[in-house]
Amino acid sequence: MTTARFEPFFARLAKTRAGAWAAPLRRLTHERLHPARHGDLPAWLAALAGLPAIAAGEVRLDAACVSVAPQATIDAAARAALHAGLAALHPWRKGPFCVHGVTLDAEWRSDWKWSRLAEAIAPLDGRLVLDVGCGNGYYGYRALGAGAALVLGIDPTLRFVLQFLAVNRYFGEDRLAVLPVADRDLPAVDAAGAFDSVFSMGVLYHRRDAAAHLARLLQALRHGGQLVLETLVLDDPAPDSGADRVLYPPGRYARMRNVHAIPGTTALAHWVAAAGFRRIDVVDITRTTSAEQRSTDWMRFESLDKCLAPDDPTRTVEGHPAPARALLLAERP
Ligand SMILES: C[S@@+](CC[C@H](N)C(=O)[O-])C[C@H]1O[C@@H](n2cnc3c(N)ncnc32)[C@H](O)[C@@H]1O
Repeated sequence: MTTARFEPFFARLAKTRAGAWAAPLRRLTHERLHPARHGDLPAWLAALAGLPAIAAGEVRLDAACVSVAPQATIDAAARAALHAGLAALHPWRKGPFCVHGVTLDAEWRSDWKWSRLAEAIAPLDGRLVLDVGCGNGYYGYRALGAGAALVLGIDPTLRFVLQFLAVNRYFGEDRLAVLPVADRDLPAVDAAGAFDSVFSMGVLYHRRDAAAHLARLLQALRHGGQLVLETLVLDDPAPDSGADRVLYPPGRYARMRNVHAIPGTTALAHWVAAAGFRRIDVVDITRTTSAEQRSTDWMRFESLDKCLAPDDPTRTVEGHPAPARALLLAERP
């Protein structure tokens, strides 16, 4: 039973300040991973079940490539089964992972984003972390590698949950889970004040109601806890406007259908302040490049280079400013 794999994590969660969330999250996880919930789920579960047993190896969570290295030679059949099982969960958006000799080069060099934030955020030692929209859990592993005590990752995209279960079969990490849950599903039972750090990276612009998303992040944090917010911003405000401008793409943005708003950094800071945060600090703005986000063998669909104007890489194909991402830190009072 797939959900049984989360039991050691739930047992740990139950003993934390967020313990009241363990039972409702277990119930939601069980419902969402029912094979009838998604047409592809039976195939993904079969891929998971077909992954070969390999003896535990040496795990490195503090390296760019989150890795587990074999202790002994792995035979060719097991290596091929491992590769096939992971490939069945294509596309891999976040990584890299190095799993028993298979280098999973994902669409994003997620280690670059981690490098940008690692020195800027409050040290994670011993912290209880919530990662909202965590993808396959890459950053959760890095947070553990940086000393976090427990990381609850949530992401409603089932494929990413299955990717986590696949790699975690070999990392054997029960201080991290990626649960099939959206921000709006976070339990109503009171875990307010529970988390020391809350990450929301690459999610805000996908939320129609940005204020509601920020309110949930605030509520999950303990007083004095840190918000780590990463989102698309305008680092190229139009000449007749300032950093308080907000772009509401009328159609697609960089070919994405579900981008609702891209603020300038001043507007973004206002939103975060209005949600009740203080000590707001934009610590990094980085224009996304085709070196950081690109097609690979593990993500064979189109990537950033096809979303930018062929004659002007500072614009998207729709004529908007090209993607730039801000990293904003803030505190719950
Ligand atoms: C652009 S990805 C960012 C992934 C990762 N946090 C990162 O920074 O690389 C956005 C993620 O948010 C997830 N997502 C979308 N809607 C969400 C929601 N309402 N609550 C939580 N996660 C959501 C998507 O499934 C996707 O994995």
